[in-house]
Amino acid sequence: MLLQGKKALIFGIANDKSIAWAIARAFHEQGAELAITYAGEAFEKRVRPLAESLNAQAILPCNVTSDEEIKAVFTELGKIWDGIDIIIHSVAFANKEELKGTILNTTREGFATAMDISVYSFLGIMKEAQPMLHGRAASALTMTYLGAVQVFPSYNVMGVAKAALEASVRYLAEAYGAEGIRVNGISAGPIRTLAASGVNGFHNILNIVESKAPLRRTITQEDVARSAVYLCSGLASGVTGEIHYVDGGYNVIGL
Ligand SMILES: NC(=O)c1ccc[n+]([C@@H]2O[C@H](COP(=O)([O-])OP(=O)(O)OC[C@H]3O[C@@H](n4cnc5c(N)ncnc54)[C@H](O)[C@@H]3O)[C@@H](O)[C@H]2O)c1
Repeated sequence: MLLQGKKALIFGIANDKSIAWAIARAFHEQGAELAITYAGEAFEKRVRPLAESLNAQAILPCNVTSDEEIKAVFTELGKIWDGIDIIIHSVAFANKEELKGTILNTTREGFATAMDISVYSFLGIMKEAQPMLHGRAASALTMTYLGAVQVFPSYNVMGVAKAALEASVRYLAEAYGAEGIRVNGISAGPIRTLAASGVNGFHNILNIVESKAPLRRTITQEDVARSAVYLCSGLASGVTGEIHYVDGGYNVIGL
């Protein structure tokens, strides 16, 4: 087993379609111990039974807009774990009104919200995690999308946020690298999830990817999860600061 005894903290499970849920299952299969967070009371009902089914050792609330809630996750984990080996950040949000039309729909407030929840949260988590990552060959992984580097209809402010998230991966990789701690991102192809349902016309993107991607299919949550196992295991011991595409090869196609 590739993650035997590793302690993995996972942010971003909303339901059984979440990419983070497939990652949690794959980590569990590979022998990892899990701590799972949920975004707030509204999500607890769905997330708790999922987390319990994988014997998660902690199931904690964490709305990432709150510094106190982020801090509390590490305070609680410090009571049961002597450290953390893996952090999964699979969190994003933008107002629905800004995920339609063009980027000219963006408001100052909507921009700040998208950047706060989808980008700053990764930095905030990685800051608070420092004492528990210290001295371990730990790794962190976030989820991004090709909309960071190319234009997709309706992706708008989220594309800007993903570009900032990808830059954050590189800066975090440098900041943590001297300690042997790795930070990477997976750029996933489109998958039908709660977050994706907020993007206007998402089904068109799915159809086009299916016909154009070298693998001639869209990817699954499990495709992403298998790559996450690799990136968070010793198999990727020399890999950091990378954005790794798990998209059936779609990103290499020009026309
Ligand atoms: N589905 C896709 O097509 C796709 C493609 C590429 C990248 N991604 C990225 O993958 C990640 C996971 O998305 P998903 O597709 O699994 O959808 P999802 O809706 O299942 O996951 C998004 C998660 O963000 C969490 N979240 C939102 N606001 C939060 C807050 N304030 N505090 C804490 N958590 C909050 C939600 O609770 C949810 O668990 C996101 O970063 C998304 O942008 C998705």
